[in-house]
Formats: sequence, C-alpha cells, structure tokens
Amino acid sequence: MTSKVDIPLSVPEISGNEWKYIKECLDTNWVSYLGSFVDQFEDTIADYVGAKHGVATVNGTAALHTALLVAGIEAEDEVLVSTLTFIAPVNAIRYMGAWPVFIDSEPKYLQMDANKVVEFLERECRWTSGALYNKVTGRRIKAILPVHILGHPVDMDPIVEIARKYDLIVIEDAAESLGARYKGKKVGHLGDISCFSFNGNKVITTGGGGMIATDNESWALRAKHLTTQAKSDKLEYLHDEIGYNYRMNNIQAAMGLAQMEKLNEFIDKKRQIAATYSEGLKGVPNLVLMCEDEHAHSTYWLYTLLVGQLDSKQSSRELIKQMNQIGIHSRPLWLPAHLQKMYGDCLFYGTNCAENLYDLAVQLPSSVGLTDDQANYVLTAIRDNCKQ
Ligand SMILES: Cc1ncc(COP(=O)(O)O)c(C=O)c1O
Repeated sequence: MTSKVDIPLSVPEISGNEWKYIKECLDTNWVSYLGSFVDQFEDTIADYVGAKHGVATVNGTAALHTALLVAGIEAEDEVLVSTLTFIAPVNAIRYMGAWPVFIDSEPKYLQMDANKVVEFLERECRWTSGALYNKVTGRRIKAILPVHILGHPVDMDPIVEIARKYDLIVIEDAAESLGARYKGKKVGHLGDISCFSFNGNKVITTGGGGMIATDNESWALRAKHLTTQAKSDKLEYLHDEIGYNYRMNNIQAAMGLAQMEKLNEFIDKKRQIAATYSEGLKGVPNLVLMCEDEHAHSTYWLYTLLVGQLDSKQSSRELIKQMNQIGIHSRPLWLPAHLQKMYGDCLFYGTNCAENLYDLAVQLPSSVGLTDDQANYVLTAIRDNCKQ
C-alpha cells in the first residue's frame, strides 16, 4: 500500500521573483551564459559572503574542479578533505590527478575534525625546501578542503592557522552551507577560495548551478576564462589553454537572484524547523539531536539526528525505512569517502568517528515549505518508532 502523505526531504521554495526574472530572460533572448543576471548573481553572492569576486558555474562540482585548477593543484599533489561528505569534492581532487587524504569527523557537529588536520600535518608530514611532504607517500601536501556539511561550519581557525604555517591553500566547500556563520563571519570567506552549489535541494537553488567566491583577482579572472573554454579572442576562435564549458546561464542566474532575495527568510525558516524537531524530540531515548557550536550560526540545511547504539546501524535504518513507508522522505548520511570503492586505497587519518556517524544518522524533511502539520507527523513517527 502506498501512502498519501508525501513529505519531501528538501525541495525548493519558489515564491518570489523567479517567474518575473526568468520571463525577462525569455522575452529578451538572453538565455545563455552572457546576460546581466549572471553578473548580478555573481556580485550578489560575492557581496553576501564578503568576497571580492564571484564566478558562477554550471554546478557546484564544476566550481570545485575550477577552484582546484586556479589554486594550482597538480597531479600527484595531496589535498586533505573531509571523509564525511557528498562525494563531489573528492572526485574533483581526482579530476586533477591529485590525491585525497581523508580526515575524520568530530562527533558533535559532524564536521571535519580540525584537531585531526593539525595532528596529521604536524606528525605525519615533513617540511623540506619550502614545501610540506607526506612522510609515508612522499607526495607534496598542497591544500586543505574542509566541507561545511549540513549547514554548519567547520572549526576553521585551527585549519587556517596551520595552512598559513605550511603555506597550504584553503579551499572551502560551502555547497551545503550558504548563509552559515563562523565566529560572526560568513562561511565561504574563511579560506582562500570557496565553492557553492545551487542544486535543487540546497538552501537556494538555480535548478542546477554553482559559484566560486574569492578575494584573489587573478584566480577569479582565470576561473572565468577556464569556465568559458579559455577563449582568448573576442572574434576568432582562439584558445590559449584547455578550457571547460562550465559557465552558468542567464536563466539559472535569474532564478538565483530571486532566490537570494529570500535567503534570510529561508534560513530563519530552517532554523525554526530545527527548533521544532529538537523541542519535539527532547527526552526521547536513544536519540542525539542536531545542535550548533557556540561560535556557529547554522542554517540547519538538513536536520540530521543520530539514532541508536554505536556500532549498529539497525535502529537508524529501521527508522528510515518506517518513515519512508508512511510518506516521510528520510535518508542516511553518506558512506564516508574512504570507504567508497574508488577511494579504499587512499590515506585516511582518524579513528572511526565518521563511520559511527554514518551508522547512526537519519536525515529529516527540512524544506522551507514544511508545514507544522507535516513536522508534527514526522515527530509522531519518530516517537512511535522509538517506543517500540
Ligand atoms: C558538500 C557538497 N559539495 C559539492 C556538491 C556538488 O554540487 P552540485 O551537485 O551542484 O554539483 C554538493 C551537492 O550537490 C555537496 O553537498
């Protein structure tokens, strides 16, 4: 029997100027990657995070690939990256022929463990002739790529401090955390370059889309160049390097601009949903509720609970199954990247925190449009499940 209830995990809220701005693109024929909305959207995101430049891309993965290119990551370099992440940043590292070094999570906010980053660099690497090398692989460490997952910032100060000490580049993957703050500063302007995604499930969407933000003018210019096939002449088809067709188009940007007008409202709503879930689940045994660090302002992009006992994924998968059966969309977290079959041979630094989180995590519907009735239905389903 299928359920009539259908509560999605995270769907867009399209209730502002999206139709109006997109109509303008269609009416004026500016539908491709040239057009005023692209420029406006780039400026809007850059201003919002406090960066000097924004470069819009076709999606967040393309933004990450381009950021790694302009940051000068080379084949056989190593990049430290969160193991508990959607796979995109890891794949982007491999697009470059570079290697990920996976860093474990911390247990409380589920983010990359900044202490592990510092420990790895101090204990497992050697500074020689002005560069840092992994003692085991002999490869050069070039960058750190923290992923701010689920709307919450990574603890960035120790990461930036050690990066400065060893001349490493900090590339933030802020795909899931537009609008989050760390010690009052916006995520996406805490390192050297950052990337966002505007996929349909993100806090704002352009259908599909991405953005790079940076203060580095030459990186921004090169990112624009590379994402438009590295064309070097206005008239002739001359190209000065191998480029990519990675630019966002005007229609996507028009939608993004309309969505940005609502970003603060969307974040307020997501924080209210989180408060409703946390309040409604207080005291339920065997649950760990989502929370934010005292120096963080989370967007609670996707509310994620921990359910059950360590070393068992039975309770979390049971709850997910039961919710899905009654029309509540729910999911586990990502299998940590060091356990994915393509990355099993890569280095992992940590214990088994990310694995435990993967076993226990349950994601709850967190769309901006979630109604009180829907939230109560979700809460009742969880309470009933936990009574059994
Ligand atoms: C952390 C993270 N990085 C990168 C991406 C890639 O973005 P896109 O799907 O727009 O390519 C996503 C999500 O989709 C993500 O969650």
